[in-house]
Amino acid sequence: MRAGVVQFGPVFGDVAGNMDRVLALLEPEDAELFVLPELALSGYLFESRAEAEALAQKADGAEFDALATLARDKGATIVLGFAEQAEEGLFNSSLMLTPDGRREVYRKVQLFYKEREVFLPGDMPPSVCDVAGVRLGMMICFDWIYPEVARSLALAGADILCHGSNLVLPYCPDAMVTRSIENRVFSMTANRIGSEARAGEDLAFIGMSGIVSPKGDILARAGTDTEEVLVVDIDPAAARNKAVTPYNDILNDRRPDIYRLG
Ligand code: ACM
Repeated sequence: MRAGVVQFGPVFGDVAGNMDRVLALLEPEDAELFVLPELALSGYLFESRAEAEALAQKADGAEFDALATLARDKGATIVLGFAEQAEEGLFNSSLMLTPDGRREVYRKVQLFYKEREVFLPGDMPPSVCDVAGVRLGMMICFDWIYPEVARSLALAGADILCHGSNLVLPYCPDAMVTRSIENRVFSMTANRIGSEARAGEDLAFIGMSGIVSPKGDILARAGTDTEEVLVVDIDPAAARNKAVTPYNDILNDRRPDIYRLG
């Protein structure tokens, strides 16, 4: 299958403009899976929860209808981050739009820095969606630093980790190589570029979106400040072979009887 990460710089507060940019970036591309950054419509640095709420969407909101239509017309699954206004409160979420019209949601479990002043932490275990036989798992940005999140997705059967990000620390591009190797899964990290100076903070986002194979090969790597759509051919079935050697199965050989889990 063809799978792509979309790297761009959302403009803070311009939900409609950012959606137009996403649609324009995807329109000429041809792939069955696209992953876009965290909080791709709103921007990142909120002054307050009220400001984030004003820039939030519901997962079934009409704001996503054009993207859902694009997913259907292209036969592509599209994953992007958004501020989710849910009944329970506000979450930093990822939405998966499938060609057959499903809208699946993942809510970021490991909130970064001041996000916890704005968002509730995710309230559901990471889960896997089967789209035409390919098993897709979602995680969001700082979730990378807890190996448990990627591992949970691998144990749930994920072939591909769809990882929308707004990275500011330098470690993740290297760490996702390890997340892929230690779980034998593909990972697709779509990061944003640019900077935001708001709410008494000044954050620069590092770009370097990437696609990594189950053996840790970097199949695509974006620049640090360029808008890019990177599409590669992958065989998701490669993620079903968990044998590191004929003697070592990466998941079956775990020893939860020995590990300290809590
Ligand atoms: C992050 O989780 N946005 C760094």
